[in-house]
Amino acid sequence: KKKLIILTDPGQDQAAAILMILGAPEAFEVLGLVATAGNIDLGHTTADCLKLLELAGRTDIPVFAGCPRPVLRGLVTAEHVHGPTGLDGPDLPEPTTTISPVHGVDFIVRTLREAELGAITICSLSPLTNLAMALVQAPDIAPRISEIVAMAGAYFEVGNITPTAEFNVYVDPEAARIVLEAGIPTTLLPLDVTHKMLSTPARLAAMRALANRCGIATAEMLEFSESFDLDKYGWDGAPLHGPCVPTFMLSPDIFSGRRINVSVETSGALTLGMTVADWWGITDRPKNAFYVRDGDPDRFYALLLECLGNLP
Ligand code: BDR
Repeated sequence: KKKLIILTDPGQDQAAAILMILGAPEAFEVLGLVATAGNIDLGHTTADCLKLLELAGRTDIPVFAGCPRPVLRGLVTAEHVHGPTGLDGPDLPEPTTTISPVHGVDFIVRTLREAELGAITICSLSPLTNLAMALVQAPDIAPRISEIVAMAGAYFEVGNITPTAEFNVYVDPEAARIVLEAGIPTTLLPLDVTHKMLSTPARLAAMRALANRCGIATAEMLEFSESFDLDKYGWDGAPLHGPCVPTFMLSPDIFSGRRINVSVETSGALTLGMTVADWWGITDRPKNAFYVRDGDPDRFYALLLECLGNLP
């Protein structure tokens, strides 16, 4: 069983990823959710984490609030995609629990120091601010992390918040750089693969047909965020980002990629937040990430539905 710390700023696709994880209890033990400022401000992302756990009947999992802004920059949000609450679409239950009094960065540091070496996986669905701050505060935690699996980056498919940058990296490029330079085994699920996982009408109908409250709510969420992407791309469905992370952890053989160097642009006027992927090994920069470039959308959706189907 993988013990997970989840970094997240729900967000409909992050919510789908969290529910997918909760629907695979034989594979994952969730130690806590660290709410991140990203798609929306920290107040909303913490509230949305609590609502999701309420929906899934998992109020035993603690929620920690992380930093209210990126390491060096002002926060860029994405209400234009996710709506004014960050998680528009379904009517989610009001939380009966509250956030933990412990800061998200302290939770990461404490949990890694107390766990056995290599026992914890970091699952990142958001900007990497809180993990970067934890690594700056406590560099001794780096070798204690088993691996980082993150939805982050774009190279072959270009960007979604600027022509060259993916949102999670663009919001906090310095954090992404700190994490990628920390020498931790890291897998990146970039737009190059998430843009192949289209939520077509048939796939959303199958999700609704699960007829449980988590399946229906996930379909409603994705239908909401889809409307933005369908207008933007004109495809048969919207890309589905976050659930690529648990899918990779559950069934890496659904994907293909390559271990390469990925470096983050932190100063370019036009390219801020770009993840420069050295696919052909042109530089001698160290191979610091497994960069996923392709995947099988049918197997991806089959697994997502199977996990959602295990929930209330
Ligand atoms: C990201 O786009 C954002 O709008 C989503 O929340 C997701 O994390 C992918 O870049």
